[in-house]
Amino acid sequence: MILGIESSCDDSSVALLGLDLELKYHKKISQELEHSKYGGVVPELAARLHTAALPNLIKEIQPYFKDIKAIAVTNQPGLSVSLVGGVSVAKALAIGLNLPLIEVNHLVGHIFSLFLEESEQLPLGVLLVSGGHTMILYVDENGDITTLASTSDDSFGESFDKVAKMMGLGYPGGVAIENLAKQSNSHRYKFTIPLKGDKRLEYSFSGLKNQVRLEIEKSVANNSQDIDFADIAAGFERAACEHIIDKLNRICIEYKFKNLGVVGGASANIYLRSMLLKLCDKFDINLLVAPMEFCSDNAAMIARAGLAKFKKNKFTQSKELKISPRSSLSSIYL
Ligand code: KG4
Ligand code: ZN
Repeated sequence: MILGIESSCDDSSVALLGLDLELKYHKKISQELEHSKYGGVVPELAARLHTAALPNLIKEIQPYFKDIKAIAVTNQPGLSVSLVGGVSVAKALAIGLNLPLIEVNHLVGHIFSLFLEESEQLPLGVLLVSGGHTMILYVDENGDITTLASTSDDSFGESFDKVAKMMGLGYPGGVAIENLAKQSNSHRYKFTIPLKGDKRLEYSFSGLKNQVRLEIEKSVANNSQDIDFADIAAGFERAACEHIIDKLNRICIEYKFKNLGVVGGASANIYLRSMLLKLCDKFDINLLVAPMEFCSDNAAMIARAGLAKFKKNKFTQSKELKISPRSSLSSIYL
């Protein structure tokens, strides 16, 4: 089996995936509670918590050590101090158990969350919506990746986190905003959809976030009894999702995808999923989604991406395996 290790942000996770895709072990220790009171991830705290959590997880899989064929670890992109935790553990284990190392790009890991139980379906359009990224990618039949659109400022998930912080809802904010928005009036507060009618194929969420901030400040300044965070959350969620769909619609016209995968922590958003279903229906596209449990960061997707590279003999020497806060994204097999 392949051992997967993920520690790029605030989740420490370890997984064991059989070469036949059977998930033998998967556990994730989330740091959400610890970061919640700060309204975002505190890197130094994240690093300390990874150092505490990862050895405990590795201890749990000790009985399987003899069955492991390779160690796959996230080495980019992410918080440097967090990535270092997982990579150090992976390197130490590789020496101790005499096993090869496989470096995995976290974003490629998210793409493989679609294929935890099956072989890759390529070519594939991908909408990646997470806390760190918002991108539309095209993966061709050889696994080579082209970026078709990305965000020029905040990411989709990050904008939910920032709006949640303004409302005092803690971190992460995606689920909190989604829950607050349920059964609320998404048309009461009319937020402008970013870059609507603009030819640029890119995303931008910071202006929308500021519209929300101004609305909250205005109501507070007027001592308005009437301010309704739930309706603001619903209006914001609708505008953010419409922005995603607006640009994706244009890309679908141009690229005629057969398959479109939606991945990343924010792909769990039900409102976004319902809009994507409509879009895919319109273009006769097959929509692929990851199981809810594997939308957010996890080591199962890292082990799965590692398995794809294992089959192609793509290993990295320990001294060559470096971390990088940024992503170089050219192929799912590199
Ligand atoms: O992929 P992920 O676990 O971590 C990164 O790689 O960034 O994504 C986490 C992000 C956070 O910003 C979180 O607020 C957002 O995904 N998120 C959501 C939802 N669930 C998580 N955003 C909107 N709606 C959700 N239901
Ligand atoms: Zn992620």
